[in-house]
Amino acid sequence: NQERRFAIAKQNYGDASAGDEKKPFAEQSAWVEQQIKRATLNLKKHKNPTSDEYEFVFEDDVNHFINATTMDCDKFEVESPIEPNLVDEREALPIYTFRDQLLKAVCDHQVLVITGETGSGKTTQIPQYLHEAGYTKRGKIGCTQPRRVAAMSVAARVAQEMGVKLGHEVGYSIRFENYTSEKTVLKYMTDGVLLRELLGEPGLASYSVLMVDEAHERTISTDILFGLVKDIVRFRPDLKLLISSATLDAKKFSDFFDSAPIFEIPGRQYPVEISYTKAPEANYLDAAIVTVLQIHVTQPDGDILVFLTGQEEIETAEEMLNQRTKGLASKIAQLVIFQMYGNLPTERQAKIFEPTPKGARKVVLATNIAETSLTIDGIKYVIDPGFCKMKTCNPRTEMESLLVTPISKASAMQRAGRAGRTGPGKCFRLYTTYDYHNDMEDNTAPEIQRTNLANIVLTLKSLGINNLMNFEFMDPPPVEALLKALEVLYALSALNKSGELTKIGRKMAEFPLDPKLSRMIVASDRYKCSDEIITIAAMLSVGYDIFYCPKNKKLLADSAKMNFHRGHVGDHIALLNVYTSWKETNFSTQWCYDNFVQVRSMKRARDIRDQLEGLLERVEIELTSNTSDIEAIKKAITSGFFTHSSRLLKNGSYQTVKHPQTVYIHPTSGLSHEHPKWVIYNELVLTTKEYMRQVTEIKSEWLLEMAPHYYQLKDVEDSGSK
Ligand code: CDP
Ligand code: MG
Repeated sequence: NQERRFAIAKQNYGDASAGDEKKPFAEQSAWVEQQIKRATLNLKKHKNPTSDEYEFVFEDDVNHFINATTMDCDKFEVESPIEPNLVDEREALPIYTFRDQLLKAVCDHQVLVITGETGSGKTTQIPQYLHEAGYTKRGKIGCTQPRRVAAMSVAARVAQEMGVKLGHEVGYSIRFENYTSEKTVLKYMTDGVLLRELLGEPGLASYSVLMVDEAHERTISTDILFGLVKDIVRFRPDLKLLISSATLDAKKFSDFFDSAPIFEIPGRQYPVEISYTKAPEANYLDAAIVTVLQIHVTQPDGDILVFLTGQEEIETAEEMLNQRTKGLASKIAQLVIFQMYGNLPTERQAKIFEPTPKGARKVVLATNIAETSLTIDGIKYVIDPGFCKMKTCNPRTEMESLLVTPISKASAMQRAGRAGRTGPGKCFRLYTTYDYHNDMEDNTAPEIQRTNLANIVLTLKSLGINNLMNFEFMDPPPVEALLKALEVLYALSALNKSGELTKIGRKMAEFPLDPKLSRMIVASDRYKCSDEIITIAAMLSVGYDIFYCPKNKKLLADSAKMNFHRGHVGDHIALLNVYTSWKETNFSTQWCYDNFVQVRSMKRARDIRDQLEGLLERVEIELTSNTSDIEAIKKAITSGFFTHSSRLLKNGSYQTVKHPQTVYIHPTSGLSHEHPKWVIYNELVLTTKEYMRQVTEIKSEWLLEMAPHYYQLKDVEDSGSK
């Protein structure tokens, strides 16, 4: 029944042919027919034939959901039921009492610094109050978050409170994922996304209010936004700027914004009793586990929050807890364990907020994410081993390290505070008072002072900020790091000798990627392999592991992985092989299981790849495939990564070509047993050793060919002939 099928298709795919109403029905239904075929084939890309407005990807195999990248949400019914407003909960929040005062303060001042305890309602309520007060009649209210997870979950919560569908009035936008529509008036987004939005809308014209939230996190994007929006408010007197943060650093924010007034939301903080260990702990993880068990058997009801440094440690801790409580079921109350870290799938994150079963005790094993960005009700005991994982980049060598580092006093205070949210609590610090007073810094250094700046500098340059020395930084980055960024961008031909953006640089800035990756994409035009290169760029940008390796199936997993390395192609081409093979199976989930590949990573790679494909058009690069010419692909990669080259020394140790230092191929690399003479690598990481990750063999003469301005003959001569 043509008509019925048409109606169903319309419902399922949106009214994609609406613009086509005048076309003969046969033509429309042919299109519908085609769509139905595609959908039944599972996971085919679908593009609106009448406009380029949106793209989506269907997935029918596992749980039949529609995964949208840039989509017009009006076209879909979102499955989640709409709960009415949660009015009582909203009115119980500490911020509620200050609603009118806050609105008055916003009305009276253009820039306002707002502080309040985590959980007081800043992120979810302030944008709603402003919306209710009519600010959205003049433009959107934007609210930036340092973390992707926060942007998504807060937007979902606010949509629920307002009784609207997520993506309609309330939406979110994070890198490679835009969930907003024409209707959206409250937009939650990562700070990085807003920074990129500024490229297209330098005056934030479509916004009436901007709230830079979680300002205390001081991510690099937030810091750059500070400098930019400070300038914007000068020529946009109608734009309201709110800087909101937990109860840290308010004075500093106020000073930076020309003594903007500070609006404090008094918290409902109950007293927290803090204890320290008498002697330093040799093994903090073990100490943390012991403390959990001690609390569990000796202390009254109340949930426990343990701060650990990362996913792996959290998983180990859960295993240890399970081991030690095994067989005690009849003797002790039930211990319900939850994990909480940034990369945790959203469904599992949501579980944490469910109330604890009667008679049981909840233990949340969390990273820093639980320090300020989310609140778990019912926590009465906090265990703080005093460490976190911190990413630092050595500006000279570009070596990144994600090392376990002592936290700052400010962090320690914040962690302890988590125990006093719903009643008096206790915090157990697994370090001594001496360590606290003598070995811990007052504050954590902001990210801008310990990270690679190439990307940020490229963004600033494309915003027309040429003289970086004049940019108003809240805390300036080290001059050495700025110079290094300029050097790298110059080497990549993104800047000319006077430090101005070149044509290549302008193209590169279109991609929300590290400049080396963007350079590689721009270069792929010349080697006619943009198709392969955007796949590689997407696979490198996923942010999660591609492969997984269950402990009990290590051999199988390893051999599955080596399949993609056949012909000793190197890690980049292996990634390409993974993607291509997956695509050939019609993006099958079963294929991922069979090959020890993470489905979630692959889906993300596909989304990213689709977006990069769209961006190719913007910079006028044709999508061309050159699958059989591995050398051309490698050359394109080298064009982006030539600054990351190294040569074999001996016994598998390598030396980076510029700024020589000794490095090694990471054991997870397909080339870790091969030791090719010359390689390029995606990144340097310092873990147990200085490792190169994602490595590909090259010919040394390519370095001269791609970067004659960067390398000289003597750099690439074989050490033998030297
Ligand atoms: O921003 P702030 O830390 O001040 O608070 P918020 O994020 O607005 O959260 C206020 C309250 O909303 C929390 O205490 C939670 O009860 C609730 N909330 C939630 O249930 N789910 C979320 N994703 C975010 C907040
Ligand atoms: Mg918040």
